[in-house]
Amino acid sequence: MRYLTAGETHGPQLTAIIEGFPSNITIDFEAMNHQLHRRQKGHGRGRRMQIEKDTASIVGGVRHGRTTGAPIALVVENNDWKHWTSIMNIEEQPDTVEGKRRVNRPRPGHADLSGGLKYNQRDLRNILERSSARETTMRVACGAVARQLLEEFGIKLASHVVRIGEVEAKAPELPIDELIRITEESPVRVVDAEAEAAMVAAIDAAKADGDTLGGIVEVIVEGAPVGLGSHVQWDRKLDGRIAQAVLSIQAFKGCEIGIGFEAAKLRGSKVHDAIHFDENSGFHRATNRAGGFEGGMTTGEPIVVRGVMKPISTLYKPLQSVDIDTKEPFTAQVERSDTCAVPAAGVIMENVVAWEVAQAFMEKFGGDSLEEIRRNYESYLKQVESY
Ligand SMILES: Cc1cc2nc3c(=O)[nH]c(=O)nc-3n(C[C@H](O)[C@H](O)[C@H](O)COP(=O)(O)O)c2cc1C
Repeated sequence: MRYLTAGETHGPQLTAIIEGFPSNITIDFEAMNHQLHRRQKGHGRGRRMQIEKDTASIVGGVRHGRTTGAPIALVVENNDWKHWTSIMNIEEQPDTVEGKRRVNRPRPGHADLSGGLKYNQRDLRNILERSSARETTMRVACGAVARQLLEEFGIKLASHVVRIGEVEAKAPELPIDELIRITEESPVRVVDAEAEAAMVAAIDAAKADGDTLGGIVEVIVEGAPVGLGSHVQWDRKLDGRIAQAVLSIQAFKGCEIGIGFEAAKLRGSKVHDAIHFDENSGFHRATNRAGGFEGGMTTGEPIVVRGVMKPISTLYKPLQSVDIDTKEPFTAQVERSDTCAVPAAGVIMENVVAWEVAQAFMEKFGGDSLEEIRRNYESYLKQVESY
């Protein structure tokens, strides 16, 4: 199972094609678009999020509400396109002021300069249009489809914000449905009310200073069976694949599984999880410091992954850069931008992780139809039970 995405941030539309998705999965279109709407929320976002109300249409691979096994084609229209038809014209360069306007000033912290040099583009818009986090819209749409496969097998995902700048939220110890319910109502996607107020204040203070903030988000996956991923080959280790997927999200600079970087400070006895057995729960662990992985495979305990997002690169008090034409230093003009996108990034990370888990699930139980996968899954569970 794989997907590719295409489209520019100010182009007519974003597109994705999912290949290898099984047949007979009922698609809940509302649930799919709910994920896209969640991506646009959160305290600290800029005005663009009010212009774009994303809705994905499926234009291939689904008939009468169910997948057919054919590639699934997804489209999200950019509602702002009408203002960009000249600048982003696909066929020709219009003879207008906008059509002629080039981006020749690379922004620090963005792909602009490296991309311009690499692709030999002297209009840096050709780089920034694709490197923008707008691309994550399609990653969320694909993850939202993958979740519908996972839900057939009782696998659920949630996320919450752990840190924004200096403010840390208390770890929530809640059933997953409760975590989902509370974080959906929080403007910064936390359970801890005190931290919520402090985070909102920190974002407002950064904005007033013309500055930006990053943070940490945690994703939890419940219900994944033991044995997704494999220890036998480096590129089949699911923890490694999740880390790659998380680090590929714009502005993500770190990934931890379980207690992650904490493990460096502790003794082994405080890091590893003892193994227990009883008739009702089978093999299990009383702790889950490993975050649901041993040897690159799921242990059957919840998967716990954290991602670190750097502060937004575009600053209202910009850093110095160099004009690619004159080679003269300049300080970029003020642009409309997010102050903090950590809450939204948590939603993106959830859907990106969902895709990786679904892909590993398909590798393990692979079949062309939901019924075939279910047979494989149930027969495997029986094998595990009788082990
Ligand atoms: C949800 C989300 C929203 C973002 N919004 C902005 C933004 O408004 N302005 C900005 O400069 N960067 C924003 N970014 C970050 C940039 O897209 C990212 O830093 C840039 O593409 C360079 O990639 P890199 O940081 O991974 O090297 C956002 C990232 C995410 C995940």
